Amino acid sequence: MASGQNLAEKKPARAVWSGKMGFVLAAAASAIGLGNLWRFPYLAAKYGGGVFLITYIILVCTFGFALMTAETALGRKTKQSAIGAFSHFGKKYIFIGILASAVPFIITPYYCVIGGWVTKYMVSYVTVGASELGTDAWATFAGFITGTGPETFLWMIVFIAVVIVVTALGVKNGIERANKILMPLLIVMAIGISVYSLTLPGAIDGLKYYLIPDVSKISIDMVVAAMGQMFFSLSLAMGIMITYGSYFKEEEDLEKSVRRIEIFDTGIALLAGLMIIPASVAILGSADAVAAKAGPKLMFGTLPEVFAGTGSIASVLGFIFFALVFFAALTSAISLFETCTSIIQDGAKWSRTRSIIVCSVFMIIVGIICNLGYNSWIGIDPMYSIFGIGEYQDNQILDFMDFISNTILMPVVALLTCIFIGWIIKPKEIADEVKKSSAFKGEKLFNVMIKYVAPVFVVLILVFYVLNTIGIVSL
Ligand code: ALA
Repeated sequence: MASGQNLAEKKPARAVWSGKMGFVLAAAASAIGLGNLWRFPYLAAKYGGGVFLITYIILVCTFGFALMTAETALGRKTKQSAIGAFSHFGKKYIFIGILASAVPFIITPYYCVIGGWVTKYMVSYVTVGASELGTDAWATFAGFITGTGPETFLWMIVFIAVVIVVTALGVKNGIERANKILMPLLIVMAIGISVYSLTLPGAIDGLKYYLIPDVSKISIDMVVAAMGQMFFSLSLAMGIMITYGSYFKEEEDLEKSVRRIEIFDTGIALLAGLMIIPASVAILGSADAVAAKAGPKLMFGTLPEVFAGTGSIASVLGFIFFALVFFAALTSAISLFETCTSIIQDGAKWSRTRSIIVCSVFMIIVGIICNLGYNSWIGIDPMYSIFGIGEYQDNQILDFMDFISNTILMPVVALLTCIFIGWIIKPKEIADEVKKSSAFKGEKLFNVMIKYVAPVFVVLILVFYVLNTIGIVSL
């Protein structure tokens, strides 16, 4: 007993978020990222606008609420990152934590590659200006990512370096301080650009496409995409909310915090759609043209053309937009990197510094491989045709990593988490944790979702998705 007490005394205290909004701000900043600004608008454009929007919102309010509550409470209860949180209830459950932990290790490197593109665009609006970036914008972007020099690699490393510095400063000094400045700035910028985007001629057709659901556009692929997007955007099924929950004080209201994060995140995704879809319809002439072109082209190809058409304010507008995306991507990349660091730190019992160094080396090496999917450098040929999955250019390593994490691993981790909580440790374990700080108003919804609806939904969706992909059913 005495020696156990000594051990407990020697163990460094786990970091905690400060103030009432520390956790909400950090989790919202983690949630709001490329998922909202890059992925959401192009998926909404591709999968029928309004119908995708409604499916997404329903999923966030039900499944997303249950999973975010479960993951946050699991982290707060166990004070561990994903691996330790699951194995806390028995070594045999460690595999769920390992699978969940694999996700941020796959996402972070490719996230930093896109972060590098965004950094380059933000800087280029100051150095070369909107007219150059907006003339034949898609070809300009394609030329950049497939160029043969070290440029894309260097931009990725610049982005990773910023992420590492903030993470190294620690939970309070680094992550919280950055979020307090960046999050309000981001919201103001998003509203401003959305309003501007809606004033463009032809933008109203885009607005209608974006907001009015067309039931003929319902498909199994759309539901799978909305589900993957919900996990990605809310930072679920990837260990982040378990790690962030482990820094969450017991006296703070967990349920209210989860609701606030969902509102922040969904609000920014909706604004991102408003910024991008009406403007893209205005530029391309029809919603169908936008749906056909949906993908990274919307951000790096269509929007630079929109900005270029605005005359004297073009470069300022382009800079503000990419600065906004940069901030959002940065705060999410920090959370992904922090999660990977804490997984190594808790799992290997290494110091924070050593864990950060190992994580950095891993991200840079895998990021370079990801980049090599597009471009050749130092005599290494592009590898973009080795995988058969991908949406643009040829078949990209980046798309493949996105597919493996979002369409396969995250639904599987979410399913296992629901089974683990609904049927093994039982929902009461989570409800008791939530009730430590407040009443649990959504307890009934939580119980039904985690035990029955969510697991059945994931299984059905995955089965139909596979049958649809191999052509046995057509939905
Ligand atoms: N949740 C983060 C994003 O949306 C990963 O970008």
